[in-house]
Amino acid sequence: MKKIGVLTGGGDAPGLNAVIRAVVKTAVHDYDCEVLGIRNGFEGFLEQDGVIDLDLKAVSGILPRGGTILGAANRGNPFARKVERNGEIVIEDISAECIARAEELGMEALVVVGGDGTLHIAQEFNNRGVPTVGVPKTIDNDVGGTDFTFGFDTAVNIATEALDRLHTTAESHHRVMILELMGRDAGFIALHSGISGGADVILIPEIPFHFEAICRKVTERKESGRKFSILAVSEGAHPEGEQQVFRRAGDEVFVARLGGVGGTVATFVENVCQAEARVTVLGHLQRGGTPTAFDRWLATRYGAAAVRLIANKGFGRMVSLQQTTIVDVPFSEALAVPKRVDIGGDAVVTARGMGIAFGDEPAG
Ligand code: F6P
Repeated sequence: MKKIGVLTGGGDAPGLNAVIRAVVKTAVHDYDCEVLGIRNGFEGFLEQDGVIDLDLKAVSGILPRGGTILGAANRGNPFARKVERNGEIVIEDISAECIARAEELGMEALVVVGGDGTLHIAQEFNNRGVPTVGVPKTIDNDVGGTDFTFGFDTAVNIATEALDRLHTTAESHHRVMILELMGRDAGFIALHSGISGGADVILIPEIPFHFEAICRKVTERKESGRKFSILAVSEGAHPEGEQQVFRRAGDEVFVARLGGVGGTVATFVENVCQAEARVTVLGHLQRGGTPTAFDRWLATRYGAAAVRLIANKGFGRMVSLQQTTIVDVPFSEALAVPKRVDIGGDAVVTARGMGIAFGDEPAG
């Protein structure tokens, strides 16, 4: 093993730099192997100055830094890339050029750090002859085959702090404070932070809600003297039988973006429950800034394990955390089914036992 590459795809997540650092340090120290960094996801293969040398100096001091020193691109699918040709927008497959460039660079293997979309591309690269291993990244925690993706813990901590802060205004002003959280079609961020931050209502995509059930909870609290309520609402949550709320439509290349359900819930609470409501959309604050110790620990272990996986020729596989151990699973297993909240699992059962409503409670 003389030369390997690493790239970060999709949106940023806290811990990306910790993975890059661990890949470089492990490759250099344990294998005396050179590392190339591909910038801006797969785009870097075709960009001028898109490939850089990553030596120990290049990764010095990046452990606590958010974002990614390599840059990311969530429109960077080389199998379907939107380009302008003679004034017209066309979708191009530039994967063959990327693969040819990887070969020309003399890379023996590639570490792809990304969420579900990027890991699908990694799997295809591997199938087409570029030996590839994956590292599961996303604040949403929705990648299969692993207990946790890195980035999730930081997002949950930021969301929990936001809930703590919203409590003080909720209590002082007797208001319903709604926090809209990221997570796409998985409710992990809202569920974990909702429990940790003492929310009264948690709305997640896996449990369609009824507006009346939210109102019942808010009113019940008011009548028992607790004049405020805190709602942790996942951006993908939706009323039973209704569509999710999108802030931006998707197209052939770009996946649609969720957002706005917090406002819908607030309007209902104000109009029907007769309670003053305010919405905070936490947005990209959940992805920004320094990773927690847990995410640094996980990202470092993932990065180091990815290099060992390459050394053992475990191509077409993703490193993963199962219980407390780092293992690896085939891409096919990790990507077969996206991970979702187990609605009969202990977290949901615990929350219900704590009196937290999910909006699906039948009228008493
Ligand atoms: O997948 C991570 C994530 O932050 C989702 O939780 C969110 O829906 C989406 O990305 C936002 O993407 P963008 O940064 O493109 O707005």
